[in-house]
Amino acid sequence: MTKLWGGRFQKEIDQQMLSFHSSLFFDRRLLFQDLRGSAAHARMLGGTGIIPREDADALVTGLAQLADDLRDRRAELPAGAEDVHSAVEQLLTERLGAVAGKLHTGRSRNDQVALDLRLYLKEEIEKTLGLLGALAGQLLNLAGEHVETVCPGYTHLQRAQPVNLAHHLLAYVEMFFRDLERFRDCYRRTDVLPLGAGALAGSGFPLDRHLVARELGFARVSENSMDAVSDRDFAVEFTFCASLAMVHLSRLGEELVLWSSGEFSFVEIDDAYATGSSMMPQKKNPDAAELVRGKTGRVCGDLVALLTVLKGLPLTYNKDLQEDKEAVFDASDTLTACLPVMTGMLGGLRVNKESMRRAAGRGFTNATDLADYLAGRGVPFRTAHELTGQIVLYALREQKTLEELSLAELRRFWPGFDDEVFVRLRVEECVRVRQIYGGPAPQRVREALERARMRLADLTVSPERGEA
Ligand code: ARG
Repeated sequence: MTKLWGGRFQKEIDQQMLSFHSSLFFDRRLLFQDLRGSAAHARMLGGTGIIPREDADALVTGLAQLADDLRDRRAELPAGAEDVHSAVEQLLTERLGAVAGKLHTGRSRNDQVALDLRLYLKEEIEKTLGLLGALAGQLLNLAGEHVETVCPGYTHLQRAQPVNLAHHLLAYVEMFFRDLERFRDCYRRTDVLPLGAGALAGSGFPLDRHLVARELGFARVSENSMDAVSDRDFAVEFTFCASLAMVHLSRLGEELVLWSSGEFSFVEIDDAYATGSSMMPQKKNPDAAELVRGKTGRVCGDLVALLTVLKGLPLTYNKDLQEDKEAVFDASDTLTACLPVMTGMLGGLRVNKESMRRAAGRGFTNATDLADYLAGRGVPFRTAHELTGQIVLYALREQKTLEELSLAELRRFWPGFDDEVFVRLRVEECVRVRQIYGGPAPQRVREALERARMRLADLTVSPERGEA
């Protein structure tokens, strides 16, 4: 195995040390980003006359053939290499001889690895935007079918006030829209070319960084060579965006677990997204939703791992930074696995409208509306609240719902009650009167759905690649 740094050493590396510090088994994921970055660098070296054009052409052709051969498995990365960058250089040297050694002119693995990770994350963000967009679209479709599906809204997991299922689902759409915005914003800070920063102090060669940025599709070049090789904020941000998106998925997953239980019976998860028990023949378990909930922990763990790696690192590059990749890969793999599963599960979800309506009609979810009725007739809201509380207590004792009480019973608490109150107490009416912007009235929800569809289109266009 050829090392990239043998000259000043008199002894071979210890085998235990080699396997300890080698990152090839995980950073081979950056192979094609590495090859792409190297080709752009080589082309620039030739274009600027830093190396002869024939040498640059040989490097570019060699890299392209290597890429094809590796893709089609005609070539393999040497197992003993320290990392993907060393592995590529070794293969190129085997094929081209000494000229391969010109590729690294004006470059360090420190700016190279930062480049590869940025290229990788830009692609991952694009992919994630698509998957998040598909999920939000699925939620919008489902919401569109349930604008009139009355369901209980909860606080403290106690039935609170009636809403409709569309309104509930649109709350998740808002969360995923914020995730889309966050990933787009993270993209802007990832979209910066670090190449040219060298090991830490840039280069004395007249490298054309803007040319390389344009070729690789970066909007900007980094401002400070020391920051460029030691910065992993973009990786932390990505992992935070992924963690929060997972937290949103987890909350939705938890609702599906609850709602599919016999105690709620609000939804039935399609057989294709459920599993059975090896012992209990009757079981149908919401594993997909549970696993999404469970996997959230590891992504949050990835975020803490990254933050902790960076904390206390002096400038500039330190080998600690090699620990960034597994956390980032795990976070993006987990999120991109969970998103389509959630989308698929929602696509096959069967909603039990009757159970939802029944639950909404129980638990005195219309008590606030009774208090509002009184307040609307001039009773101070505090008094109205107190009176309604007494009426609820009475109804509980009588084992009746509020609307089952007679006018005579109601008038014992407040003489001004009229028949209007029974209209006001219907749960559909409780939802209908909440016409406020951002509220659950079906008309408002239809408008919110319309706006959300337009926002979704804006949030999922590919993040623009500005000129360097
Ligand atoms: N494998 C290293 C990493 O992932 C590449 C950079 C190594 N640089 C160095 N000076 N050892 O961070």
